Amino acid sequence: MAQLFLVFLLVCFMAVMSSTQSYAVETWVTRAVSEKDTTHNLQFYFHDTLSGNNPSAVRVAQSTATTKSPTFFGSIMMADDPLTETADPTSKLVGRAQGIYGSASQNDVSLIMAMSLAFTDGIYNGSSLSLFGKNPAMSSPREMPIVGGTGIFRLARGYAIAQTVSANVNGDAIVGYNVTALVDNKSSGVNQNVEDSPSSVTGNSNGNTKTSDANFSDTVCLFLNHISMVVLSVFMVWSSF
Ligand SMILES: *[C@@H]1O[C@H](CO)[C@@H](O)[C@H](O)[C@H]1NC(C)=O
Ligand SMILES: *[C@@H]1O[C@H](CO)[C@@H](O)[C@H](O)[C@H]1NC(C)=O
Ligand SMILES: *[C@@H]1O[C@H](CO)[C@@H](O)[C@H](O)[C@H]1NC(C)=O
Ligand SMILES: *[C@@H]1O[C@H](CO)[C@@H](O)[C@H](O)[C@H]1NC(C)=O
Repeated sequence: MAQLFLVFLLVCFMAVMSSTQSYAVETWVTRAVSEKDTTHNLQFYFHDTLSGNNPSAVRVAQSTATTKSPTFFGSIMMADDPLTETADPTSKLVGRAQGIYGSASQNDVSLIMAMSLAFTDGIYNGSSLSLFGKNPAMSSPREMPIVGGTGIFRLARGYAIAQTVSANVNGDAIVGYNVTALVDNKSSGVNQNVEDSPSSVTGNSNGNTKTSDANFSDTVCLFLNHISMVVLSVFMVWSSF
């Protein structure tokens, strides 16, 4: 009996003390919250369309050598690409990738990316991440640095893992992105710990509200912890007679 309570106590203690809690925020984001920082895991699809009447990326410059280069070296594109929840272009829009990418390598198809990932969905509406780095477009998966952000992502740091889902001869591509962004809990522009509830974001910037789920289980565990403490001490006193 005593062992049972001891195990029970230990489990509850560990549950209360575990420093990181993960939960879904939006359908395409999960968060892991610790004392120190919040890790946001974002999953979305990037649609880069060069062809057709309404391209989302246009060539704005190139060198005279670009046409002769097998890697399009020297070409610069301006993009305003939709970011969606699934690879289906008609799935929910979660933001836009706006910025410049250029062919930066003479020997392989590698892009230098300078993009703002501007999110528009749920509590991430208005927050952005800045992606900057080399994109070896022909390798999968590939990694690019996240160098900063705004709003929820103020002072963010992280990385993006990208994998091409489909690409055609016109250069149109659908690319899956998994972005991991860390934000120190003192830096975030808006409340980091709220669940998907836009109303609690507006006007609340202290970043200190816990999720009701987390604080319910904490409370229950603390309660059970106290109960088992009491029972254990009663048992110990009783067994010493
Ligand atoms: C995002 O915020 C802007 C400005 O507050 C608002 O106009 C827009 O409707 C919001 N978008 C979504 C998808 O909630
Ligand atoms: C993103 O992560 C999910 C699960 O964690 C995985 O199934 C998917 O393949 C990843 N996508 C990319 C582009 O890395
Ligand atoms: C941020 O971290 C500090 C120090 O670890 C902690 O006291 C505080 O409760 C944390 N705040 C949030 C919102 O998690
Ligand atoms: C749960 O968190 C909310 C918001 O911080 C707080 O107002 C409430 O008192 C907490 N409930 C419990 C049982 O700790």
